[in-house]
Amino acid sequence: MCGIVGVLGKHEAAPLLVEALKRLEYRGYDSAGIATVNEGKLDRRRAVGKLVNLSDLLVHNPIAGKSGIGHTRWATHGGPSVKNAHPHQAGDVAVVHNGIIENFMNLRAELNEKNINYETDTDTEAVVLLTKYFLSQGLSPTEAAKKTISRLTGAFALAFLFQGEDDLIVVARQGSPLVIGHGDGEIYVGSDAIALAHLTNKITYLNEGDFAQISRKKIQVEDKNGIIVNRKIQNINLKSAKADKAGYKHFMAKEIAEQPLTLATTLENYLHEDPCDIILPKNNLKLTQIESLTMVACGTAFYAALTAKYWFEKIARVRVEVDVASEFRYREPPILKETTAVFVSQSGETADTLAALRYMSSHNANIISIVNVIGSSIARESNLVLPLHVGAEIGVASTKAFTAQLTVLALLALKIAKAKATITENQYQKFLDELKRLPEVISQALCLEPNIQKIAGELASYNDVIFLGRGAMYPLAMEGALKLKEISYIHAEGYPSGELKHGPIALIDKKVPVVVIAPKDTLFDKSVSNMQEVMARSGKIILISCESGLELAGHGSWATITMPDVSEFTAPIIYAVPMQLLAYHTALSKGTDVDQPRNLAKSVTVE
Ligand code: AGP
Repeated sequence: MCGIVGVLGKHEAAPLLVEALKRLEYRGYDSAGIATVNEGKLDRRRAVGKLVNLSDLLVHNPIAGKSGIGHTRWATHGGPSVKNAHPHQAGDVAVVHNGIIENFMNLRAELNEKNINYETDTDTEAVVLLTKYFLSQGLSPTEAAKKTISRLTGAFALAFLFQGEDDLIVVARQGSPLVIGHGDGEIYVGSDAIALAHLTNKITYLNEGDFAQISRKKIQVEDKNGIIVNRKIQNINLKSAKADKAGYKHFMAKEIAEQPLTLATTLENYLHEDPCDIILPKNNLKLTQIESLTMVACGTAFYAALTAKYWFEKIARVRVEVDVASEFRYREPPILKETTAVFVSQSGETADTLAALRYMSSHNANIISIVNVIGSSIARESNLVLPLHVGAEIGVASTKAFTAQLTVLALLALKIAKAKATITENQYQKFLDELKRLPEVISQALCLEPNIQKIAGELASYNDVIFLGRGAMYPLAMEGALKLKEISYIHAEGYPSGELKHGPIALIDKKVPVVVIAPKDTLFDKSVSNMQEVMARSGKIILISCESGLELAGHGSWATITMPDVSEFTAPIIYAVPMQLLAYHTALSKGTDVDQPRNLAKSVTVE
């Protein structure tokens, strides 16, 4: 995973690199480092933990030089330590790497035979050692880097810096994204355009297999066949200001609280008033012919897709398969002609989702992506992009992106339903009215925070929690469990309520609280029966329903959360709020690092 940056500047490189790395911390925060060339001399600084540790180190031990590379790491091979932190250096070359060198064991064995030994536990070290070896054979820096890259398999974005070369960075991409930024007499590289937004909005996206030799005055890009190509410079409209917490204690708290606003913006971008209709960006979709959809995503985005399956099937009468991206392409699923595939990803950079998209593209599927980051790899490789329009999501735990993903998916389901006439115009308008009420109802749900905070205070002392839901609440149960485990480190599982009796009910006792998500919908009575089965075994129930639901079934619960009355259609979007608040306040009680929980990264760019 990880984020990489590089600068060939007019001024000191270190502050520029650190600022760019700040913007890439969403890719990992196990360690960080920079290397510079100053009057020909290569030097580096590295620190374990978050970027702030590197910044502190640089205060006490500054590093000079106008050319440099930097890295923020999410450990794959070798634990977080200074030794394993990037940039890696061997002799006259330093390298930063995002991705995984899959053949590093073979390369390591080959290097050992040449009496070249490893000092770190990383796959990346093979890259610097090989380059050092090729340099010792008389190859120029660019030739040595190129020859090294020809020996690598796996996914990578790499940037090389060389001793004695104040005006050279060599980069390559295969499987991991990489951009070049164009400044005034300065050149930058980065894992994405956002990393460079404080420096420039003139961006060149490198293609798969590209190799580039970069100096301040000249950039030479070769494609995967070694042919010199011209990659265009695009003007990217990115806000250079880094998002702030706006007075909230955490980004996650801010992102939960701003959902009425973000959802209003999402809806505004898709709804046309008078007559009210859903407007999608220009596309070649033949909506009336869509019989089935394949949806692929990871984590929270996967649960959004799983929820949408209920809408697509019930309302638009479209058959839907939903797959976890990491399981998709290795199954080699046969792809029928005219398949439409929907990829859901906040970052648009998730390696598993991107790989699944490419599998689908290679089988000529029509690709729709639902992303938050518009210039992302997934967006750029899609036939139709449906953006979320919720602004940057910084908290590792996805919140406002989830409710927006659900909203965009609901809009797509309705658009198809209308085109296929599986619903009447009246029903269509009624569904749209319900969506338009989202900002208001989400605001009401947010008012439940004090009660949820109290419940979370209790929950924090438990080791295991079960979440139950039926129908479209089942994916939400899994999302609630995911939120809780990723930021509070409490073990949690989401199950379909009706499935509990087939095994998991054996877990129930006083020590395992059970969160039951039961809006007063067509499945309410069944949910209540399943809840009774838990109560009968001394299970502690936290029941989430509306007032009338709680009146009927709340008796005997350990705690209750009274939701506003909502329609069955929009319930999954609104009931997401107590899931988010419960996880957030439990994590607060436990004192965990809410925005950057242990072992995680915001965007997972390795398989
Ligand atoms: C959610 O809280 C997670 N941190 C994670 O599951 C995330 O949703 C997943 O990694 C997918 O990311 P994406 O939406 O950027 O593709």
